[in-house]
Parts: sequence; C-alpha cells; structure tokens
Amino acid sequence: MNLLEQIDLNNTPEHVAIIMDGNGRWAKKQGQIRLYGHNFGVESVREVLKAAKEMKIKYLTLYAFSTENWNRPKEEVEGLMDLLIRTIAGEVDELNEGGVRLMSIGNIEGLPEGCREELKKAQTITSKNKEINLVLALNYSSRWEITNAVHEIAAKIESGELKANDVNELTITNFLSTNSIPDPELLIRTSGEHRISNFLLWQIAYTELYFTEVLWPDFKKEDFYKAILDYQSRERRFGMVSEQITK
Ligand code: IPE
Ligand code: IPE
Ligand code: MG
Repeated sequence: MNLLEQIDLNNTPEHVAIIMDGNGRWAKKQGQIRLYGHNFGVESVREVLKAAKEMKIKYLTLYAFSTENWNRPKEEVEGLMDLLIRTIAGEVDELNEGGVRLMSIGNIEGLPEGCREELKKAQTITSKNKEINLVLALNYSSRWEITNAVHEIAAKIESGELKANDVNELTITNFLSTNSIPDPELLIRTSGEHRISNFLLWQIAYTELYFTEVLWPDFKKEDFYKAILDYQSRERRFGMVSEQITK
C-alpha cells in the first residue's frame, strides 16, 4: 500500500506549519551557491501544496523569511527577495485556478516595496478561494509578533477602549498576525535541526512537532505523507490522561 492510502483522510490536521530549512546545505552539497538551493526549494513548495490539498489540509503555513534572516549576507537577502517577487508573480494564476488563498503573516511593512506590491496583488486576486489557505511567514518572528500585540493592547488600555483586567488569552490571540488562523496541529522542520527559531511560539503550545533530516529541496510528497502518518500515530492529550481521550 502506498503512503497516501495509509493516511486517514478524515483525521488529517487542519493546519500544518513548516520550517523549510536546509536550502544552503543542499546547494553546498551540489557545489553551488546558496541561492541555487533556495530556487530549488520552490519546487518543494509546489509539491507540498499539492499534497496538502490532496489531504484536505486547510492551512499550510511556510516559514519563508525570518526577521533574523536580514542578518545574512546582502546578496543572499536580495536574492531571496527577488525570488519571492518572481515566484509570487509567476505562480499567482495557477494558485488562483487551484483554489488557493494566499495569506501572509509577519512584519509585511518591513519588506521591500516590490515584494509588498506583488504580495498584495496576489492576496487580492486569490482572496475568495476556499480550497486551501497558503500562509507565507515573511519577515516573521514570534517575539516581534508578540511584542507588537502587547503594543496594540497597551494602546487600547491607554485610550480606555480596553480594561487591563479584561486581557485574557483570547485577547492576545486576537492581536497576533495569525488571528484568523487556527493553531497548527503539526509543525514540521526539515534539515535535522531541532529548534523553533522564533516561529509561532504562542501558537504551538500544543502542536505536535516533527523533525526530519531531509533537506528542504529534497522534501517531496512522500516525505510529507510520512510526517502526516507519524502525526496520526500520536495521542494528543492536552494535559489530560489517556483514558479521557480514548473514551
Ligand atoms: C532555509 O534554508 C531557507 C531560509 C532560511 C530562507 P537555509 O538557507 O537556512 O539553509 P541552511 O540551513 O543554511 O542549509
Ligand atoms: C529558520 O531557518 C527560518 C526559515 C526557515 C525562514 P534558519 O536557517 O534561519 O534558522 P537557524 O538560524 O538555523 O535557527
Ligand atoms: Mg537554515
């Protein structure tokens, strides 16, 4: 039986988030520059998006550029921004025809203008689509997002719109850039690194974590199916005991 047939399509996660890591190491192994790896990574995005649709996943969040990634060499940052612009512009029609709604999280204001424009255009074109939400995390870091939420909440308290005592978990959730998106049930990180790198810290409180050695440009449908099968073998207890979950 192939892997897809083993997956229970009635029990796939609604939201999968992926830290797409390992492009640079992949390129180095081929004797190429890092940008070569980023280019190939786009093909993995296409595959994973297709597989997500097959598995009826409703939200696919991809960590494409972190706030800390600005600290990379200038040529790499420029190459990544350029790749982002070209990819969004080149894919938007196909995304639209495939029922994909493009969304973004992160400090979008801080992206170069060309990037912001392409992103905005694609988000408008695809805004009515319902098949799947493709969420790009761009200039994203969780600590930035939480700090930003605190600023906004504090401003509302200062203006008297909100009482300090009324601030609860839901208030905070509502001020994050993921406010319209359910928490991910599964987080995948490729390339053998076992860390979160400032991604969705608030949102992954009860998320299942899956780490694979596969480098992002090599991550294909079968690797995604494997992650989902692993997820389906787990028991999510949310602080309770096994008997409470299975009854
Ligand atoms: C992930 O691959 C892509 C981005 C962070 C933009 P890396 O570029 O981090 O590749 P490695 O981790 O150096 O191999
Ligand atoms: C995380 O990967 C960010 C993205 C995948 C966009 P990094 O390669 O930047 O993370 P670290 O530096 O290894 O933690
Ligand atoms: Mg990396």
